[in-house]
Parts: sequence; structure tokens; C-alpha cells
Amino acid sequence: MFVSRITDQIKAELKAKNAVLVAHYYVSAELQTLAEESGGIVSDSLEMARFGQNCSADTIVVAGVKFMGETAKILSPEKTVLVLDEGATCSLDEDCPIANFSKFCDEHPDRTVVVYANTSAEVKARADWVVTSGSALKVVQHLKSQGKKILWAPDKHLGNYVQSETGADMLLWQGSCVVHERFKADALVNLKKHHPEAGVLVHPESPQSVVDLADVVGSTTALINAVRDRDEQTFIVATDNGIFHKMREVAPNKTLIEAPTAGQGADCESCAHCEWMAMNTLDNCLSTLKTAGNEIKIDPLVNQKAQNSIQKLLDFTA
Ligand code: 13P
Ligand code: SF4
Repeated sequence: MFVSRITDQIKAELKAKNAVLVAHYYVSAELQTLAEESGGIVSDSLEMARFGQNCSADTIVVAGVKFMGETAKILSPEKTVLVLDEGATCSLDEDCPIANFSKFCDEHPDRTVVVYANTSAEVKARADWVVTSGSALKVVQHLKSQGKKILWAPDKHLGNYVQSETGADMLLWQGSCVVHERFKADALVNLKKHHPEAGVLVHPESPQSVVDLADVVGSTTALINAVRDRDEQTFIVATDNGIFHKMREVAPNKTLIEAPTAGQGADCESCAHCEWMAMNTLDNCLSTLKTAGNEIKIDPLVNQKAQNSIQKLLDFTA
């Protein structure tokens, strides 16, 4: 179907159902544009959660991955939340099954449990705090100042980064993001030799060796703002390449280069795109709206507990 026709149909369905489209920076440019044009939002996972909670729509349509849909539902249990493909998940979420995680927590009752947003509703319900990449440093700093020891899950790279920045006592679950884990420090060093003037922007889900080469480490929003605000004309970007759409929009004259995923130990040439984010399409957006399919459902008790740990974050970062 032609893009303009299908986007017109989606806009009409959104209006008819008092629905809003909330998209992450990693989904296709078409979906990002559509979310903004139809009164929704494109943002990082923290702002997606906040927008869904504050909007007056009856239905939230999430273009992203499952944990983003679940977070929207946890914060707005009275609203209908739809995702475009129920199979669109996240390796961090998959790597942290609730039974194993709960056992891990039980073994360390003296630790405050802090989990990344990229987890299931059940894992969030077991946690004391939920954080995002844009808020993890501040929350852990705050907990450290209260003398708390932390149990962190699931991303070992983000956990490692937060631990080294804050000096907090953190016990780390060993999950990782399959996209960010593939960025290679040795190949990045070589690329930098060809572009010594370039700023290096790194999402903290990347390995420590890549983070060590960064000029800016931050959430997707922080990296976009860096492209807009910093003086460099060229940037090497170590995160999902879906983000380039917004970066080009905010800084059309700057040059953006994908950080290398090839190099020693590489198992692919260019992997800088999340296969689950790529499952979001205009076609399944339209069919989801038409059938009200892929609705997120969460056990009310789990929902209530998970809401407590996310709400702490929203209040803390308000
Ligand atoms: P942000 O919270 O920075 O948008 O990251 C979400 C994510 O899944 C990154 O891989
Ligand atoms: Fe999960 Fe990584 Fe995909 Fe983000 S990019 S949704 S962390 S697998």
C-alpha cells in the first residue's frame, strides 16, 4: 500500500478510536513521523512512559517493543494498550526470567533491587526501583547516598557503567543487549583515526571498552541532543541506527557515521539495528488498530506492584 494512503488510514483510525501513537527512536522513520503528525510522541523509553500516563487518549498504541507496551499499561491500567507485534521483545527482557531473577533477589535480601525498564512486568513488580538509561545514574547515586547496596538487573554493561561512575556497591545480573554488545572498540579506534574530528556518542548498553572511547554516554534522547548542541560537525554513533532519522532532523548539516560492528570477534558486518524494533511497520500499525489486536494484559496484582516501582522513578525525575 502507498505510504501516504496507509498513513491517512492510520490517522483516521487513531482519531476514530481516540488513540495515540507512541513511538521509540529506533522504529522506522515513517512510524516516527506518523506518531508526531498525529499528536503522539517519539522519544526515549522514559518519556514514552510519561507521555502515555499523562495523555487523555483511551487507547495507547506503542511502536517499540513489548516492555514499552507493558510499561504503558502498568502506568495506565484503565487504558487499552496495543503493540504492533506481540513477538517484538528485547534480549534484556528475555535474559531475565522472573523465576531465576526472584531467586537471585531472595539470595540477597540486604540489597535494594533496581531494574532497568527493559524487563517484564513481573520483574518490575519484584523490584524496588525501575530505571531507564536516562535516569540510572541519578537514581543509583541517590540510593548510594542513603547507604544502600544494590542488586542490579538485567544489563551488565549498563550496570558496569553505572557502578564505575557512581562507585556504588552493585551486584550485577549478566544480561546484555544483542545490538549494543556488537559494537567493537578496536574497529572504533581505527575509524577514529580516519575521523579524528568526530565526536563519539555511545549508548551505555554498549561494552565498557566502547564506552571508554565516548565523548558522550547517554540515553537515546541525550545522544540526539548532543548531535544538535555540540560543536563537532561529524559524529560516530554507537546505538541502533533507527536513531539517525531524528538526528538528521535536528541537525541536517551534520555528518553521522555508524560505529563499527565489524572487527575482531565480530559475527556480522552491520548489526546496528534491533530486529525486534524492525518488526514495527505501517501495515501492522493499521491492522492492530483495525482489529484492536495485540492488547497488553497484566495481572492486576503484578500491575500494582510494578506501578509502585515505576512511579518512584517518575516522581524522582519529575
Ligand atoms: P532509551 O531509554 O535510551 O531510549 O533506550 C531504550 C533501549 O531499548 C535502548 O536499546
Ligand atoms: Fe532491547 Fe537492545 Fe533492542 Fe533496545 S536495542 S529493545 S535493549 S534488544
